[in-house]
Amino acid sequence: MSYPRIATLKNVELFRQHTAVLGIDLPCDDQIDSSPSGPLAQAYQRERGTIGNRFCILPMEGWDGETEGRPSDLTRRRWQNFGLSGAKLIWGGEAVAVQPLGRANPNQLLINEQTLPDIIGLRELLVSTHVQQFGTDNDLLVGLQLTHSGRFARPRVKSRPEPRIAYRHPVLDAKVGVVDDAPILSDDELKQLIDDFIRAAVLADQAGYAFVDIKHCHGYLGHEILSGFDRPGIYGGTFENRTRFLRDIVAGINAAAPNLEIGVRISLFDFVPYQPGPDRTGVPAQAAPYRCAFGGDGTGLGIDLTEPKKFLELLRSLGIELVCSTVGSPYYNPHIQRPALFPPSDGYLPPEDPLVGVARQINITAELKRAFRDLIVVGSGYSYLQEWLPHVGQRAVRDGNVDFVGLGRMVLSYPELPADVLSGKGLQRKKICRTFSDCTTAPRNGMVSGCYPLDPFYKSRPEREKMVALKQELELHS
Ligand SMILES: Cc1cc2nc3c(=O)[nH]c(=O)nc-3n(C[C@H](O)[C@H](O)[C@H](O)COP(=O)(O)O)c2cc1C
Ligand code: SF4
Repeated sequence: MSYPRIATLKNVELFRQHTAVLGIDLPCDDQIDSSPSGPLAQAYQRERGTIGNRFCILPMEGWDGETEGRPSDLTRRRWQNFGLSGAKLIWGGEAVAVQPLGRANPNQLLINEQTLPDIIGLRELLVSTHVQQFGTDNDLLVGLQLTHSGRFARPRVKSRPEPRIAYRHPVLDAKVGVVDDAPILSDDELKQLIDDFIRAAVLADQAGYAFVDIKHCHGYLGHEILSGFDRPGIYGGTFENRTRFLRDIVAGINAAAPNLEIGVRISLFDFVPYQPGPDRTGVPAQAAPYRCAFGGDGTGLGIDLTEPKKFLELLRSLGIELVCSTVGSPYYNPHIQRPALFPPSDGYLPPEDPLVGVARQINITAELKRAFRDLIVVGSGYSYLQEWLPHVGQRAVRDGNVDFVGLGRMVLSYPELPADVLSGKGLQRKKICRTFSDCTTAPRNGMVSGCYPLDPFYKSRPEREKMVALKQELELHS
């Protein structure tokens, strides 16, 4: 099945016609208002201070840190680009592990006493770059994303999964080599991990980050715990038990670093894992019923927001107002998490027009934002909109359906997009992310992540040749 490329939808009217054909609701403005009072340029005012505009850089790691967990020059370049973007909210920079065995790969950043000076340096680089370009950081909010990769941990060897899991999973166990209960984290191990998150948050506070994100998304540990419906003990079963991990981390941070703000990135719903079907198009890996989806309706393919709403109520009761919405997981259902026309090498051809995935994510976020007006909500999954990203984003902010437009892949190919939109310059078309997925395919094959097709810096790196060869091989075998 092929879907029309966004670049062929030459004007807003054609874009709208296409969404109508798809039967999706994706409201979109005709013109971008780049005046200071325009929806995307408007500052977000709150008691804790001002956030200067409505663009947010989503966390994106590059599999490019040093083995002891420090950033490399490649990491620094990415953070510098985040500062150059003009976005005033930096949601976490990238996933940073709170303990060595929780790393998603041997090159993931790690926060501890030894790496602290470098973690401080990353923030300072981003901020000084931003100040140089935009004159002030008074209205810039920078957080750090804290994580344990759980089921998807590969801390020592890139090709060797060393999963630590919340519960046995009917499909994903086989994917990461789980054959018995040994990788299940005991309640005592989770208690130790809570202390690791608290220690990491205290260090992030010392490093000058304004907030930490206690990551609860994408199938990593925090997210997996939320769907531990059948896990026995104090971290499984009831909603209260499944959120104990988060609540205890928050209580510990509040006690140890009272001035540090806390945010949560949450996969608001999840689907069953997908796999390539006979023609490589994605198909569900398991038929209904499917019990392992937080925010799922039990079929594996439907959404039930009852628990996500309870989760947002819980965040509110904990005094947390920063929420970054995302969905699913890049490991087992990437078409819902980061809609793309071209799948990553371990993915499958999109089973739906990627715009359907974009609309699903944007509309669920809107539903929850409307129900929780007092929370500050960042949306994700906009990059596939390409030329129409600013138009859809502006409309979502204008209608009060989201507070910040989050940018993921688009800033890898086109870091200055927010600045170009806000200055009224318009988009530089040759930089627009076309969702080729090389930034996901590269790390899946042991290489650093980056935009190999469009970023001249990565285009000229030796890995680019390897990427081209790899993609040709995949074509041959498809
Ligand atoms: C290369 C790459 C690295 C990513 N790393 C992270 C990460 O460290 N933490 C996280 O929460 N999400 C991560 N994501 C997901 C993005 O933050 C975002 O949710 C996703 O790309 C969808 O947004 P987009 O459509 O704007 O790309 C990553 C995505 C990509 C492409
Ligand atoms: S490699 Fe570049 S064009 Fe492809 S998805 Fe990533 S950022 Fe977009």
